[in-house]
Parts: sequence; C-alpha cells; structure tokens
Amino acid sequence: MMNWDQIYAHAKEWVNEAGVKIRLSFNETLNIETKTNANDLVTNIDKEIEQFFISKIREVYSDHKIMGEEGFGDSLDNLEGIVWMIDPIDGTMNFVHQQRNFAISLGVYENGVGKIGLIYDVVHDELYHAKRGNGAYLNEKPLDVLKETTVKESIIALNATWVMENHRIDHNLMIPLVKAARGTRSYGSAALEMVFVATGRVDAYISMRLSPWDIAAGAVIIEELGGIVTNLWGDKLNFLSQDSLLTAKPGLHQSILKDYLKEGKW
Ligand code: IPD
Ligand code: CA
Ligand code: CA
Repeated sequence: MMNWDQIYAHAKEWVNEAGVKIRLSFNETLNIETKTNANDLVTNIDKEIEQFFISKIREVYSDHKIMGEEGFGDSLDNLEGIVWMIDPIDGTMNFVHQQRNFAISLGVYENGVGKIGLIYDVVHDELYHAKRGNGAYLNEKPLDVLKETTVKESIIALNATWVMENHRIDHNLMIPLVKAARGTRSYGSAALEMVFVATGRVDAYISMRLSPWDIAAGAVIIEELGGIVTNLWGDKLNFLSQDSLLTAKPGLHQSILKDYLKEGKW
C-alpha cells in the first residue's frame, strides 16, 4: 500500500529545503532568460529548484512520474500512477522584479486524483498544505472550511487581461461580473491566488490559461476546505494540458458560472 504520510512528510521536507535555497539566492545575481515571449521569464533558480525536487523524488520514489514547468521531468501522455506536478517558482516575474509574491507549488496525484498539495510562500515562511481527507493547514494551523458568499460581497482575483479584448473569452461577459463584485485583485501568482481562496482572503479566482503545475497543489488545498475547482465551463480540470480555471467558495462558484458565464455556453 502507498505510504501517503511518508510522501507528505518528504514533500514538506523538500519544499522547506528548496525555500532555504531560494532565500539564499536573494544575495546572488540572477541569470534571467525569456521563454515563449519577452515577458515570460525564467531564471537559473527556477531551473535549479526544479532539478533539486526531481533528484530528491527520483532518489526515493524511482517509480513515480514528474511533470515540471521547466521541462526536467517526464513528458507524460497520461496520469496513471503517481505524478508529482511541480512549479519551482510560481510568479517568476514577481520573483525577479519584487523578490516577493511568489511561491513553490507542488501537487502529488494518483491516477489523476489530487492527494497532496503544498504551496510555500517562501518570503513569509508560510506553508499551505493538505493531504486528501486530512484537512488543510497553514503551517501547523488548520484552515477553516469555506462558507458560502454572493458575488455582491466577494473579492475576485483575476488578471486585467481577461477584462480587455482577448482571444480566450468574450470580455463582455467579464465586465458585468467585475462591476457586480465588491472588488477585484491581481497578484501575479496562480498558486498564491489559490491559497487566498483557501484562506478566504479572496472569494474566487479566475484565469483563462493555466498549466497543471500552476493549479495542481491549490486544487487539493481548496477542495479539502469545501471550495469548488473547475474550468470556466464548469468541467473537471484537465491536468495534461493547459486549461482555464474558476475556483470559488461554494454558492459563489455556481452563481459566477450560471449568472455571468452562461454555464459555459459562450
Ligand atoms: C504564472 C503565474 C501567473 C499566471 C500565469 C502563470 P509562472 O506562472 O502563475 O500569475 O497568470 O499564467 O504562467 O510562469 O510565474 O510560473
Ligand atoms: Ca506557474
Ligand atoms: Ca514557474
């Protein structure tokens, strides 16, 4: 039988070690490169941290598979078995420009089902973590189950991109939602925005394009607290390719989907 407690303990230990490495890197000069476009940044630290996790996982769990943003893991066409989904630094632009507002995100899935999620806010030394069926925590403190809310009383995290003309969603659907909500916020790290949903600091988070490693950990943490995690069509997330994301408190998720996003019929 799979020893999930052991995997959980290892994941925490390695995330903490990675955090120490990242904090030490603040004294070094970063080597910054661009990926798909001039604003898609990657640093030597993103790569080093991903390689660090991969070497640890391979050493202890040689039969597990790994999906990592920087490409040092496996290239997968299915989610069978145990799959680690790693974003070594989520919010690289913030890491480079601000040295804050970024996180390590690590999800462990079994046959496509989220089992463990860890999001580490390195600068604040805050580890958000959950093991399916065991509740979710901020460091040692249990997080409260999420309560229902309405659009009128909610703060919604979303990127301004999706409220301007774009090729992924009709922005005319988004404008009434932004007007109706109490407020909107944008933090530049999907993992932290998911943690903010989990802790009730925001009530929902919407994005049109995220990768499995951006959302794998957050989905486990939010679902453990009764929050709802789907794509913008209200369907189960696809962890093999990019997908949209709508995650929110119960009730609010349904209202955004039904009253503003036309239940995905757009
Ligand atoms: C990005 C951040 C950002 C989101 C992007 C992601 P990265 O991750 O989560 O908030 O809007 O879609 O790609 O590249 O910093 O790991
Ligand atoms: Ca990311
Ligand atoms: Ca990243």
